[in-house]
Amino acid sequence: MLVIGSREFSQAPPGPFPDPEFTRHNYLTPFPPLLSSLSRPRRRRLSRSGMQSLARSALRPALRARTFASSATRAQAAAVEKQPLLKEFKIYRWNPDEPEKKPTLQSYTIDLNQCGPMVLDALIKIKNEIDPTLTFRRSCREGICGSCAMNINGQNTLACLCRIDRNASKDSKIYPLPHMYIVKDLVPDLTLFYKQYKSIEPYLKNDNPPEKGEFLQSQEDRKKLDGLYECILCACCSTSCPSYWWNQDEYLGPATLMAAYRWIADSRDAYGAQRKERLQNEMSMYRCHTIFNCARTCPKGLNPAAAIAKIKLELAAD
Ligand code: SF4
Ligand code: SF4
Ligand code: FES
Repeated sequence: MLVIGSREFSQAPPGPFPDPEFTRHNYLTPFPPLLSSLSRPRRRRLSRSGMQSLARSALRPALRARTFASSATRAQAAAVEKQPLLKEFKIYRWNPDEPEKKPTLQSYTIDLNQCGPMVLDALIKIKNEIDPTLTFRRSCREGICGSCAMNINGQNTLACLCRIDRNASKDSKIYPLPHMYIVKDLVPDLTLFYKQYKSIEPYLKNDNPPEKGEFLQSQEDRKKLDGLYECILCACCSTSCPSYWWNQDEYLGPATLMAAYRWIADSRDAYGAQRKERLQNEMSMYRCHTIFNCARTCPKGLNPAAAIAKIKLELAAD
């Protein structure tokens, strides 16, 4: 006889979802009948985990029934899932070791039912199983490092955050970030982008550090940095900006300008005036025509155009 909570079972309850009363709480909570069979000093000595394992051993037949039923369900689901869902990916290829050859779109077909849900999963599958020469950057696979930025079906985004369109009748086209020199395949050369970022001195500058402890900041001042500090420098915004395409030698582009504003807006930084002064010329910032491509494409949901507009306002007010 098995007693669970207030109920009695002559055999293990059926799995996998036998009864609303048969909850996780039920089988992780020690049962009064089991405990009452122990002597009082032993009950006191028993730790919480000891009590849980006691409860689990009493329920082992029930858990076995659950496990069996859920693995049967899984097997059924796998049989249904095994129908292949073939999808074509057309991927930009260019090899610097063969400079005489023009870039091409190479086609790969994979079974989406044997692949993770994101475009980065598809790229990794292609590289692992079909073509190890396919080259792309990636690191964190969760939208933190910014490495896997590329142009997927016409939009600059992060491959690890972009779901594969499961409509198998439509192919997916993948290009590197637009208007950049290419190192190989999907890898753009970001040398200039990082040089521009470095030029705005993206770090706290203050010649009078507090005598003791850290720089303090009020909650209101800290709030001013929200929507700015989250930028992961993926370059999706800058490479979607028409002004940046045509003037990237001189125009800093949305990502770098938002980073500049992040330090201008920081109450702990003492170089705001100099930072603004450096942008006070025809090209560094005023090439932004507020078209908002940058805000539309940012995979982190940030708005570099708004940050640029705030710098312009502050410069106008000075
Ligand atoms: S708003 Fe400015 S920075 Fe953003 S895409 Fe348009 S021109 Fe570029
Ligand atoms: S603002 Fe958005 S799109 Fe631009 S670099 Fe930062 S995270 Fe990437
Ligand atoms: S792999 Fe890091 S952002 Fe995609």
